[in-house]
Amino acid sequence: MIVLGIESSCDETAVAIVDDTGKLHADLLLSQFDIHREHEGVVPEIAARAHLDHLDRLLQAAIDESGYDFANLDGIAATCGPGLIGGVMVGMMAGKAIAAAHNRPFIAVNHLEAHALTARLTENIDFPYFLLLVSGGHSQFLAVHGVGDYRLLGSTQDDALGEAFDKSAKLLGLPYPGGPQLESLADECPKDKTDDAHARFPLPRPMSGRPGCDMSFSGLKTAVRTHALTLPDDGNGRIPRAEAAMLARSFEDTVCAVMEERTRRAIKLFRENTSHPPTPAPTPALVVAGGVAANRGLRATLKNLAEESGMTFAAPPIKLCGDNGAMVAWAGLERLRLGLTDPLDTAARPRWPLEDI
Ligand code: KG4
Ligand code: ZN
Repeated sequence: MIVLGIESSCDETAVAIVDDTGKLHADLLLSQFDIHREHEGVVPEIAARAHLDHLDRLLQAAIDESGYDFANLDGIAATCGPGLIGGVMVGMMAGKAIAAAHNRPFIAVNHLEAHALTARLTENIDFPYFLLLVSGGHSQFLAVHGVGDYRLLGSTQDDALGEAFDKSAKLLGLPYPGGPQLESLADECPKDKTDDAHARFPLPRPMSGRPGCDMSFSGLKTAVRTHALTLPDDGNGRIPRAEAAMLARSFEDTVCAVMEERTRRAIKLFRENTSHPPTPAPTPALVVAGGVAANRGLRATLKNLAEESGMTFAAPPIKLCGDNGAMVAWAGLERLRLGLTDPLDTAARPRWPLEDI
């Protein structure tokens, strides 16, 4: 079985062709970072136009690279939400057009489900598994019981974790997209200055000790702003790099500490949730997915926690953490092999919670 996937819900235009062994026959991605950088964030209208400008060429390139023809494919999958509606429409309509022209089944993919199932593409994970989904728009703990069967254990009450990274990075004078930039800046803080960084720039640990496993990140960003305002200007309107690196170190370490505490509680809930039939897998997996899953500190924290909890740890390779076409093609393939296809009048959905699938 072989499926083409189209992703265009935010600032990445991506197309991939994947088969049921997990082999990628094409995997192409065009980031719009340069276009949006001058606006310090994604501008929805500009993003939609850029998807429109590049998608046809990317689709043809994917077909050429794979050696397949549209007509040989078993299905055409496209992200139909959640996301920026203009961009979603561009990818969705392209997918429907190909499906209609070549008489192939169309699969409407939920972007969050695509992130959620990526670990099954790369790591062969069995259901049920524990999932931390952390991206620019979402932060959720989920029990994944099967394709389309997601049970929410906890979520952020305000900003998503990726959003907290991006906003804090902006306050530190870093360009968009801020998450990876903030991580690199924190690495510039010398190891022997870590304690100084924590003492000099203490940050709150929102929700720490609270029952349940909900999260909150907006207070973190506000505290970063308060610290940033105390720092001198380097003469060019920026915070001195060495100071910013210490504040970034404190932010990174606080996020890891907060996520360790929240995740430990979420695992407990997951175990209670899956202790009744269906029987849990012998060694359930702790899976992290979404753009922030690329963060090395977070991955290391979760890996330790998995070991401590008798779980296997699984994270997609860095390249497949952020938005990409392979995850959409794979989610489409998982749905197609269960016979789950969608009509060509399926609507795009700017909001589409995982539990509603
Ligand atoms: O999943 P994704 O590519 O797009 C959404 O669906 O939102 O996630 C993007 C988010 C951004 O907020 C970005 O700053 C963050 O993931 N991100 C990171 C890292 N790489 C990407 N955050 C922290 N550390 C990173 N290394
Ligand atoms: Zn995403």
